[in-house]
Amino acid sequence: MSSVSPGLLPLDRSSVVSLQERTDRIADDILASLPPPEQLSVDERRGIIARYSSVLEGNFIYWMTGAYLSVGSEEARSIILDNLLEEVRDCHPGMLRRFAMAADAVPTDSDALAVYQELLDVRLFVGRRPRVAVVVMMAFFEGFIQRFMPYLAELAQRQGSIEKEYTDVHGICDIAHTQELFRAVEAEMALARDSWEPAENLFEGVDLLQALMQKITAVHSTVQAGMRDEELAAPGELNVSKSNGHFAHSAD
Ligand SMILES: [Fe+2]
Repeated sequence: MSSVSPGLLPLDRSSVVSLQERTDRIADDILASLPPPEQLSVDERRGIIARYSSVLEGNFIYWMTGAYLSVGSEEARSIILDNLLEEVRDCHPGMLRRFAMAADAVPTDSDALAVYQELLDVRLFVGRRPRVAVVVMMAFFEGFIQRFMPYLAELAQRQGSIEKEYTDVHGICDIAHTQELFRAVEAEMALARDSWEPAENLFEGVDLLQALMQKITAVHSTVQAGMRDEELAAPGELNVSKSNGHFAHSAD
């Protein structure tokens, strides 16, 4: 395979180790950009927890299910299925809801709107079922979450919460999940090589999740922060287009 554009890795030359190193660096960048908890107001802390909860509570299992539906190898299917079973059996969405409630950070409509576009971009990416890139995305995210948990826990603690089950569970179990998912990536890459599939942009999903996490942790948490400039509507005119799901000015 010849040279490729940025973000593309030729499947016959890339290694899982180099993939993991690159995802680690992206996680480093996100973590380095987080606003210091001690400098945040009560509302800014609440906003980060609420936007995180708004995204993760209803979408993590969806994303992982998309990965399950995308992969072709039995090894990857088995690894992803184990992850899904744990999510459902131990009711991780319920854990996250309790975490948000205890921190007085239950998501509102404004929190959902703030992350609307970036979340939609990830959903549409998963819907295309890219075989390797979606597993790279989930492996990256499992690793990122584990490193993000101390920050999230500190935000909640500063909100007066003593609820720690969600952050404790995900600070530990995701270390093993990350390694397993990179093993799934390896299995899928081997399969893609054998079937002569064209190289994907293996980091497309990672890039989209990075943008989503940046929106979640942005401290200017207004509804407008979730909208693109050309989509800004005057107060009271905000609507959602039925045709493309994007924000739009009301035509009524
Ligand atoms: Fe989980």
